[in-house]
Amino acid sequence: MTFAHAEYADHELVQFCADPSTGLRAIIAVHNTNLGPAAGGCRMWPYASADAALDDALRLSRAMTYKNAVAGLHLGGGKSVIIGDPRTDKTPELLAAFGRLVERLGGYYFTAEDVGIGERDICAIAQSTSYAIGTPSSMEGVGDPSAFTASGVFKCAELAVNRIFGCLDFEGLRVAVQGLGSVGSDLARRYHEHGATVFVADVDPDKVKRAVNQWGATPVEPGRIHATDVDVFSPCALGGVLNRQTIPEVRAKVVVGAANNQLESDARAVDLLTAGILYVPDFVANGGGIIHVASEIVDDGSPEWVEGKIDELAQTAGAIIDESLRSGRSSVEIANDIAERRFSPVSRPGKSKVASHA
Ligand code: NAI
Repeated sequence: MTFAHAEYADHELVQFCADPSTGLRAIIAVHNTNLGPAAGGCRMWPYASADAALDDALRLSRAMTYKNAVAGLHLGGGKSVIIGDPRTDKTPELLAAFGRLVERLGGYYFTAEDVGIGERDICAIAQSTSYAIGTPSSMEGVGDPSAFTASGVFKCAELAVNRIFGCLDFEGLRVAVQGLGSVGSDLARRYHEHGATVFVADVDPDKVKRAVNQWGATPVEPGRIHATDVDVFSPCALGGVLNRQTIPEVRAKVVVGAANNQLESDARAVDLLTAGILYVPDFVANGGGIIHVASEIVDDGSPEWVEGKIDELAQTAGAIIDESLRSGRSSVEIANDIAERRFSPVSRPGKSKVASHA
């Protein structure tokens, strides 16, 4: 039962949706809308079971509440998952059916890109809802957020290596990137262009081949990338990569990446701290993308606003890192405190406004 589910954290709404005519099976989870309407991407994945999809939707939507709050957005946290293989099960009809479900929520939840759902798919979804963001400029949207996510992760990585290794660039550093999708490939390119030696892993051999050819990257087995002898590890695939088994094997002194829910649970943040590894919380590092797509629905969503918000987010990341190094508290605990202060009902701003914190 959802109320008793381990990942249920007083979510405001969990909607199970089926459309037999298109094969759509989806879950929309809204965690908290104290700061404004919920916003978060739609993931399409061949989950092993409906339970696994529910786990993901609950965890991801809660993370969005924290991410949007730390990013200084007046948006709540929500996320949706479509159960299916994006390579074989995705049809325009199925995406349109999903759009109709989002539309039915009347602006309570805004959807966007995530794993398995790209810009083209958001266009298809937007055919049947006005609450899809991250659509291309031809549809008056701002487009795929991935480059902005990568930009935010890179800024956080720069700050982290500065604090830990005292360097201003990646010259001479070794970096491992797990997952060479839209964000991971952009991030790997940035590391390479800033002087790092790059190690990569992806379950898709073509993406690995491209990284080897383009940046002289060294391929690593997907199951061993976390254990590579590097200075920085950037998880950019799926969640749960930092767990009881992998953390003792991590050689990097800095972990910073785009993947949502990198930690098996918040308790693993303390394990990383104890192991002397600086972890930049995923929901802080990867906020650039949601800032970018949120620019479609805030009052002043100019490119300058986006750039300013990502810089502000990087400053927040810097403050979290400094506080963690100073106090010995985990970076996740510190970031959670910041988010909870912002979305707690006491500090709740007017719900009608979709704007940004000053
Ligand atoms: P994507 O779907 O384009 O890329 C994911 C990549 O990971 C794919 O190339 C896939 O083959 C690879 N992969 C899957 N399992 C793997 C494994 N076990 N080992 C190695 N590689 C594996 O997704 P995207 O957009 O690049 O997102 C990456 C992560 O960042 C996801 O967790 C996503 O939720 C998160 N994120 C993405 C944002 C965006 O703007 N796209 C924004 C915020 C978070």
